[in-house]
Amino acid sequence: MSARVDMDKLVSLCKRRGFIFQSSEIYGGLSACWDYGPLGVELKRNIKEAWWRSMVQERDDMVGLDSSILMHPKTWVASGHVDGFADPMVDCRVCRQRWRADDIKDGKCPDCGGEITEPRMFNLMFKTFFGPVEDEAATVYLRPETAQGIFVNFANVMGTARKKLPFGIAQIGKAFRNEITTGNFIFRTREFEMMEIEFFVKPGTDEEWFKHWLDERFNWYIKLGIRRENLRLYQHTEDKLAHYARACYDIEYLFPMGWGELEGIAHRGDFDLAQHAQFSGKDLNYFDPDSGERFIPYVIEPSAGVDRSALAFLTDAYAEEPDKDEIRVLLRLHPDLAPVKVAILPLSRNETLLPMARDVHAEVRKCFVTQYDDAQSIGRRYRRQDEIGTPYCVTIDFQSLDDNQVTIRERDSMKQIRVPAAELTTTLEKKLGGEPFEVLPAGGKYWLGFE
Ligand code: GAP
Repeated sequence: MSARVDMDKLVSLCKRRGFIFQSSEIYGGLSACWDYGPLGVELKRNIKEAWWRSMVQERDDMVGLDSSILMHPKTWVASGHVDGFADPMVDCRVCRQRWRADDIKDGKCPDCGGEITEPRMFNLMFKTFFGPVEDEAATVYLRPETAQGIFVNFANVMGTARKKLPFGIAQIGKAFRNEITTGNFIFRTREFEMMEIEFFVKPGTDEEWFKHWLDERFNWYIKLGIRRENLRLYQHTEDKLAHYARACYDIEYLFPMGWGELEGIAHRGDFDLAQHAQFSGKDLNYFDPDSGERFIPYVIEPSAGVDRSALAFLTDAYAEEPDKDEIRVLLRLHPDLAPVKVAILPLSRNETLLPMARDVHAEVRKCFVTQYDDAQSIGRRYRRQDEIGTPYCVTIDFQSLDDNQVTIRERDSMKQIRVPAAELTTTLEKKLGGEPFEVLPAGGKYWLGFE
């Protein structure tokens, strides 16, 4: 098992380098809400894009959706959230701190040891008012999951996308939960993003599809660089299943604070469509043209958190290595996820280097997200890029002006190669696509490098 990453170091790197900030920090912060800075927003976009590409665009049996956050309040009655989406909560009679009842070990407040109240159920949905009147009739909820937007659109999508079972609807979007206990950075927050799939299948084929999605989702994390030994599957026992689930597995990741849920994969049976059919009075049956049967499909639901994925990818990528007399901190992020793909670094600020450095930058940025940096020593600039996970740095030096060649340095190995400027973009494209760094383009050579 790899050494556990220190959460404080990760949080500090995220803040220092502009990945993640506390929300409303200048006002003292808003607990369990976080803002993604310039690099964090790129990382998050890359995670969502990787998910969308492999779950929607590369499959024939999936279509996308972007439903609204505010939904008809009956949705949440039908889904069971109004009655059932609640955690037992207790209060400390001494310090007034509020806890989830299952966080209490010996009947005492974990903070001050004070006596605690009897558990009460606390609904996790945020309420707000729709329109200008603030009364019960105008109450709506901020969605606690994106899934219900998919279920209520099942008939719309089926009618327009001309899909036959089995097929899925995928959605990425914000969700809100008034969590009682939060913490561990972006692990459990009150506002977060989800990447959810509702996959509709014919009853009888559900077990096979459940297995398919367990494999598919587990391997997605591995393909994007998460080490196998830091992932495991946890099967929910029957008494722990959510109200809608017939079976459920969590993909767990070894976060800095220990194993925790990264994604849930649930067998929801026909619970949701049957409930919405009953509450809306609409027919949500599927007509099977092959057998002539009408039935409510079963649903397999892989449901992942974008923020938890970001935390897992950051944790898995974080590394510290001895480097001469110092420690090199780096993020070994998969190239698809790295916020910046290529940094362009003229060896110095000397004016003669600038026109070529600018030309190279102009070419490379047409294809990849880049940073141009000419401040401080080349060694420091390499370290800065290592720390934000940039896979490749390109250096332009005085010799480049004569031989029209530039140097590419690889983040993980710190090895360098020298390539003709004309070959640079295609070479970078191949390396970012997984070609071994040692493979040279025409006219390229190995290079001892500048460190
Ligand atoms: N529709 C199914 C559903 O909502 P869930 O297990 O409650 O299932 C799915 O949530 C995923 O959403 C979790 O595995 C986690 O990644 C993420 N998630 C849930 N609550 C979260 C929170 N408070 N903060 C951050 N991510 C959360």
